[in-house]
Amino acid sequence: MGRTVTIANQKGGVGKTTTAVNLAASLAAGEHRTLLVDLDPQGNAGSALGVARDEVEGSVYEVLLDGRAVKEVARRTELRFLDLLPSSRHLVGAELELAGTERREARLREALAAVAGHYEHVIIDCPPSLGLLTLNGLVAADGVIVPLQCEYFALEGLADILRTVELVKGGMNPSLEVDGILLTMFGQNNLASQVAEDIRRHFTGRVFDTVIPRNVRLSESQSHGKPILLYDVASKGCQSYLAFAREVSRREASRERKLP
Ligand SMILES: Nc1ncnc2c1ncn2[C@@H]1O[C@H](COP(=O)(O)OP(=O)(O)O)[C@@H](O)[C@H]1O
Ligand SMILES: [Mg+2]
Repeated sequence: MGRTVTIANQKGGVGKTTTAVNLAASLAAGEHRTLLVDLDPQGNAGSALGVARDEVEGSVYEVLLDGRAVKEVARRTELRFLDLLPSSRHLVGAELELAGTERREARLREALAAVAGHYEHVIIDCPPSLGLLTLNGLVAADGVIVPLQCEYFALEGLADILRTVELVKGGMNPSLEVDGILLTMFGQNNLASQVAEDIRRHFTGRVFDTVIPRNVRLSESQSHGKPILLYDVASKGCQSYLAFAREVSRREASRERKLP
C-alpha cells in the first residue's frame, strides 16, 4: 500500500510547492511510482513540471466535483516514475461548490482509494488557506509535512495549521500523523539560526533533520518547468531535496517495521 503525504501550511510562499514537486521528483528518481496532486488553483506545481494549467484537459477539479477517475486525469511527466494530477482555474470556485456536496471533505480520499495499489507515494500540494481544498488534502493523507520558513512570525502561523490537523484527527481522519516540520529557504543569518533553534526546542523530535537552504537554482528550475533534478543536480537545492527524500523514506521504513 502506498503512503499519502500532504504538504500544508496556510501561509503562502513558505516552500510548499517547491517541496511537493522536488520531494515527489526525488522519490520518483528512486524508481518509486509517485503521484503529485496539485490542489492549488494557482497550478504552480503543474507549471513547475512543465504542464501549463490551460493546456490540461481534465484536472483535480473534475475528480472532486464530477466524479472523474484519477487514472483518467493523471498525466505523465518527464520523469518516468512521476505522474501529475493537475490543477485547473475552475478550482477557484471549488471551495464554494464543494460546500454544497455530500462528504465534501472526503472527496479526494475516496478518489485516491482507486489508485492506492498503483502508486507507492502520493504527494499533495495544498493552496495557502485552510479551506475545503486543504481539508480534502488532510483527510486523504496518512501524514502531513509542514514547510516553515525561518522568519520571525513562523511559530504563530504554525499553531493554526497544527490546530486544523488536530481537528481532522478528531473527526474525519483519526490516523493522520504530523510527519514533521521542514525548515525551508534557510539563509545564513543569525535570525534564521535563532528561529530554527526555537522551533527545534518547541517541537522536539518533530522537525526533520534535513534543512532546505535558500538556493536560487530552485526558483530558476520552476521557471524552466523542470524539477531541480532535471535542471541542476549538483546544486545545493537539489542535493537537499534528495537528502530530504531519503529521510522521508527512512522514516517510512522504520514506521512499517513498527506495525504489527
Ligand atoms: N529553497 C529555496 N530557495 C530559493 N527560493 C525558493 C526556495 N523554496 C522556494 N523558493 C521560491 O520561493 C517562492 C515561494 O515558494 P513556493 O514553493 O511556491 O511556496 P508556497 O507553495 O508555499 O507558496 C517561489 O518563487 C519559489 O521558487
Ligand atoms: Mg504553492
